[in-house]
Amino acid sequence: MARHLITSALPYINGIKHLGNMVGSMLPADVYSRYLRQRGHEVLYICATDEHGTPAELAAKEQGLPVDEFCAQAHDAQKAVYDGFALAFDYFGRSSSEQNVEITQHFARRLNENGFIEERAIRQVYSPTDGRFLPDRYVEGTCPHCGYDKARGDQCENCTRVLDPTDLINPRSAISGSTDLEVRETKHLFLLQSKLQHEVEEWVAAHEEEWPQLAASIARKWLNEGLHDRAITRDLDWGVPVPSDTWPELAAEGKVFYVWFDAPIEYIGATKEWSDLDPENRDWKSWWYDVDTDVRYTEFMAKDNVPFHTVMFPATELGVREPWKKVDYVKAFNWLTYYGGKFSTSQKRGVFTDQALDILPADYWRYFLIANAPESDDSSFTWEHFTATVNKDLADTLGNFVNRVLSFSKKRFGEEVPAGGEPGEAEAKLGEEIARLLAEYESQMEALQFRKAAAALRALWSAGNSYLEEKAPWLEIKTDKDGAALTLRTAMNLIHLYAVVSEPFIPATSAAMRQAFALKDDTATWITADEARTLTALTPGIPFTVPPVLFAKLTDEDLETYKERFGGGAA
Ligand code: 2FM
Ligand code: ZN
Repeated sequence: MARHLITSALPYINGIKHLGNMVGSMLPADVYSRYLRQRGHEVLYICATDEHGTPAELAAKEQGLPVDEFCAQAHDAQKAVYDGFALAFDYFGRSSSEQNVEITQHFARRLNENGFIEERAIRQVYSPTDGRFLPDRYVEGTCPHCGYDKARGDQCENCTRVLDPTDLINPRSAISGSTDLEVRETKHLFLLQSKLQHEVEEWVAAHEEEWPQLAASIARKWLNEGLHDRAITRDLDWGVPVPSDTWPELAAEGKVFYVWFDAPIEYIGATKEWSDLDPENRDWKSWWYDVDTDVRYTEFMAKDNVPFHTVMFPATELGVREPWKKVDYVKAFNWLTYYGGKFSTSQKRGVFTDQALDILPADYWRYFLIANAPESDDSSFTWEHFTATVNKDLADTLGNFVNRVLSFSKKRFGEEVPAGGEPGEAEAKLGEEIARLLAEYESQMEALQFRKAAAALRALWSAGNSYLEEKAPWLEIKTDKDGAALTLRTAMNLIHLYAVVSEPFIPATSAAMRQAFALKDDTATWITADEARTLTALTPGIPFTVPPVLFAKLTDEDLETYKERFGGGAA
């Protein structure tokens, strides 16, 4: 029994996420959290919307809403989708919360006191028409390399070259379109990461051996390139304000912290949001402060986020010189592609999380995505693969097993777990196999190897099918009624086992399987190896009902409809 702190990368506020975002962060974190809770651990799973930065301002502008209103609405919209996916966060916060403002400002003050922040003057584009400095991507113009006339000041979308706003030909403000632009000197806060290089290196060295190779190699690469001092403030209207007690001049100019400075701090901020709702029973500091060995902290993210979590955020935490909890294990994912190409919002390729739920219930997606998570490499979503997996694993192997066993038993023995028969050789063999596969499933879950865990779960479902085929109770019943009763009772015990152990992957289906036996809605009791071996927890006489079909089979017609709607095939 341990205390597990779990976070998944905070989704940007600017729009509903696609399946690729979900599979590399929130979904596996949810599966892992559910598993640990079932094993009796104390778990706190925290996530939040990442609400600051230029993309939030731009998205709000596009919708014609004040940015705070836009964020409030967009937060609720994302939360509704995550509820639809049955993501069981302990708390889903907002990086614009007062708690995050408070803790971010505290971190900045401490970094400053410890000599890790410096004010530096830089030259930046100013727009007198807009009355403000323009962040790089608010300056548009013609790309000096390819001539594309809508290149942004940070990067040309057409030729992908990285730009400086002063490189642009005929620059204009993306806000007003004004071409009356000047370059002015302005002051910003810089985080002196170069001074922390050595400490971060030591910290990474002490942890990387335990991290998966993907996370460790990215951290190493960044450290080898050397940590550079970084501007951590921006000229935006929306963000965590620079505290006026420490930097009165910058605060008066309306500077805010850069989004990547306050976003990871929101892991702590959101925990405080959670705790502030019920301060008598929840203690945010007991998860974050001076808890080095009491809490195990696991982070989930896609690979582009790894540098921020393995190097930059730890550098911040180290520089604060207070005992804030640092990550123990970084679970990083590669990309999920759509037919081998990028999911693309603008080209309408790929599947967004809200659309996915319009088509099919969450469990279909949860299972498919985790069973094909881009763990060791990128993996590709295709509708062909999706429909084949649903049909084979969910509809045939699991769903059909459950329905076949319960319908047949109801027909021949009534609506109670049938009595009769003594377990024999087939049951002993099955028990050994189930106990072995359960142990495999557990060890893969504990190693956060999600694809392998899914394979073990699938193998548990298959073992039930093999047993049923071997015993063939529909034939057995003709000559040996007690034998058939034993077979069906054993199969029902498998259903009970599936209800418990499938819960992290397919929680709604698990609940339906438990309800078939009117078992109290208690997922917290895991199956012991002994129970797996004997398969006798459900005793004769327990009433059951036959649940509705657990998974619908998807037809060729469905497949064609999906492909047409979402653009199947090559980019
Ligand atoms: O890449 C992203 O989607 C970021 N919004 C992740 C932030 S993670 C954390 F540090 F807040
Ligand atoms: Zn270009």
